[in-house]
Order: sequence, then structure tokens, then C-alpha cells
Amino acid sequence: MKNREQFSGNLTIIMAMAGSAIGLGNIWRFPYIVGEYGGAAFIIIYFLACLIIALPIFFAESVIGRRGGMDTFGSMKKLAPGSKWYKVGMLTIISPIIILSYYSVVGGWSIHYLLESFGGALGQETGHFGEFISSVEAPILAHTVFIALVAAIVLAGVKKGIEKFSKYTMPVLFILILVTVIYSLTLPGAGRGVSYLVKPDFSKLTAQAFTAAVGQAFFSLSLGVGTVLTYASYMRKKDNMLLSGVGTASFDLIFALLAGFAVMPAVFAAGLSPASGPGVVFETLPYIFSKMGSGAAWITICVSGIFFLAVLMAALTSAISMLEVGVAYLVEEKHLKRSRAVLYLSLFAWSVGLLCSLSFGPLADVTILGNSIFDFLDKLCSNWLLPFGGLLFTIFVGWKMPSADVLEEFSNNGKKPLNVRLYPALRILMRYVAPIGIMIIFLNSILGDLS
Ligand code: PFF
Repeated sequence: MKNREQFSGNLTIIMAMAGSAIGLGNIWRFPYIVGEYGGAAFIIIYFLACLIIALPIFFAESVIGRRGGMDTFGSMKKLAPGSKWYKVGMLTIISPIIILSYYSVVGGWSIHYLLESFGGALGQETGHFGEFISSVEAPILAHTVFIALVAAIVLAGVKKGIEKFSKYTMPVLFILILVTVIYSLTLPGAGRGVSYLVKPDFSKLTAQAFTAAVGQAFFSLSLGVGTVLTYASYMRKKDNMLLSGVGTASFDLIFALLAGFAVMPAVFAAGLSPASGPGVVFETLPYIFSKMGSGAAWITICVSGIFFLAVLMAALTSAISMLEVGVAYLVEEKHLKRSRAVLYLSLFAWSVGLLCSLSFGPLADVTILGNSIFDFLDKLCSNWLLPFGGLLFTIFVGWKMPSADVLEEFSNNGKKPLNVRLYPALRILMRYVAPIGIMIIFLNSILGDLS
């Protein structure tokens, strides 16, 4: 086989992995879920979910990816020859492409809103968002442009495409969100949004809140779909897995909190409910910025533009990781040219995405198990496919792989003393805590769906 490409070092791996992790999940999902489940109290359990369930799974995927050195199928076949474990690969072909299809619809919205911000057309009225997403041509055009951008970056390859794009985008992204936070904090009445995020309300911590915390941790760290596994397979043997995992999770959490501080003060400043739902980012922010902000019109236009540029960049670095999983599979297992693999998969995601986009308009009446097409696919992935994939990965590493092999991979052959010291605790988390946690979540979802 041809030499595989590799990321250049620890920092670039963290940038690429954080690029995958930080996305619409942080900016669009995290603030409204925090809003729904009691602000600071939810943030505390979210942190715990990341630490004891999500991170161990992140390491499980990293161990499989780097030790196997291939896509999910190839890595599993190599690590468990003769067994059926490689079939987990199917899940990692299906899940990321489904996510890509609806994710790129929202990615398209951010392109549209970015252009409108600079055209000065945003913020004039609040009904704009509903009208836009239920129309046909404009969102589909934006979705098409978004997928084309994703395909172009992935086509350029691991180093020249994914690594380069993430390396430059991630620092800029942090600056953009910081500017938005500062502006948001200066809005009149912003203080209530801040105290909402820092003062815990434990009465809202229901079983649903725990399920949502774990689901969000999975989605946000891109777990259970093979992206971490695939990116880890491009990691050099001498790089430190503990560092890339903790680094990625820390950046992801910091970014989610920053997004919370960008969105919540603005929501409170406008007297809206913190639980106004998914529309909050697209519908209310531009309106709030333009109606309530102080300063000349050009400042509000710039802040809106900066905010939607941040949304777009975050969405792009995540979307490329979704496409790369399937591309790695088609190239390595089916021996397709990279260009063909990119073309087939992006066309597929684009077509399913069309249905998702139309499900806000002409196809709004089409429901699957009581959900619109878009919502059904989102719930299917975040509540079921991602945790299920994560469960299989952690069982594989915790119960199927010899412990000595896992330790060897996790600690670079014993060369990383801290990794060696932490391994016994990690092993308990991978074998017991994470799988049991996920099963409880499943049970809770099943009971929730039945009731
Ligand atoms: N982690 C991304 C976000 O928070 O927006 C979403 C995501 C990316 C999910 C990649 C799954 C994936 F494979």
C-alpha cells in the first residue's frame, strides 16, 4: 500500500481534532441545551460526562486508530483478525455521512447569514429565519455551496487540506468568538445572562438532563462515528495521545462556554427565554445585535458578520472530518481514487441533505416516528448511533484487546510516564464506567420514547 499521509505533530493533531470537535454543536446546540436544562448546573454534569464517559471513549478510538493505522474496517481487522469486529466499520460509514447531510444544511444557513450580515439585511425583522429555512432555492443553494467547500478541502488531502485548513482556522475562530463575547457582554441587561451561566439551578437536573449531557458530549467530541479513530490513524507513533485527547476536550469545552457567553447575555438582554430552542442563534442574535447594540450601524454589521463567519468556519472543520472517515474507507478498503471517493460521498450527503432542507418547507408534513426528516436524522445520530458506536469501541478496547497492547499504545511503549500512571484509572473507565453509563442512557431514552 502507498505510504499513508500523517499529521505533522502534536499541535496539528490537536488543531485537526479540535477542528472536528468544535462546530455547530458548540455554537448552535450547546447554548440552547444549557438553556433548557438549568444553566450552570447542566454545565457541571456536562463536564463530568466529558471526563468519565466521553474522554475514555476518545482514548479508546485513538488507541484503535493509531495501532491499527487504517480506516475503521482495516484497523479492526488488523487488531482482531478472524473476528467479526470489523463490521463496526459499517456504522462509521453510515453515521458520519448522515450527520454530514443535515449538518451541511445548517452550515449552508451560516453562509447565507454571513452574506446577509455584510449586505446589512439582517436584523431588520425576526420572522426572517422561519421564512428563509422554509423556502426552497436559497437554503438548497447554500447547502450545495457548503458541501462543495467541504469536498474541496477533503480532496486536497490530509496534510494539504485538513491539516492546513484547521491549523489556520482554529486560532482565528477563537478570536472571532471572543469579539462576539465582548460585544454581547456590553449589551444592556447582559448581566442576567452571565449569572444564568454561572449560578447553578440543581432543581432542573432531571434524568433527561443527564441523557442530554452525555448526548451532547458525544456529539461535541465527534465520538462513536470513527472520526477520532481515523484522525488518530494519521498520528505519528511518537505523539502523545493523552495530550491530544485532553487538549481537544479542553478546547472544545472552552469554546462551548465562550459560545454560551456570546449567546446567553444577548438572549437575556432581549428579554427572551434561555430555552428558546435551536432557532436562537440564527433568529434572535442578528436581531438582538442590530436592535440593542450600541455603536454605529457598521459595528453591528461587523459583529453579526464576525459571528456567522465563526459559525461557518467551525462548521467546515467539523464537516471535513465527517467526510474523511468514509473517504479513508473507500480509498483503503475499496481502492477508489480519492477524488472519486470524495465525489460519491459528497453527492450522497448532498442528496439526503436536500430532503433535510426541504423538511423545513414543502416536506414539513413528512414525518418519521413523529419527527421531521431533519429532526429524525439528528435524533437517530446523537441519541442512538453515536453512543452505540462509542459503546462498541470502548468494549473492544476494554474487553477484547489485551490490556498490555492498550497500555503500550496509550503510553508510547512506556515512554510517557504520566500516561502509564493514569492507565489503571482509564482502564476502569473504559471497561465499566463508560459502557454502563451509555447503557443507562439508552434505557432512559427508550423509557422516554415509550412514555
Ligand atoms: N463535533 C461536531 C460539533 O460539535 O459540531 C459535530 C460532529 C463532527 C459530529 C464530526 C460527528 C462527527 F463525526
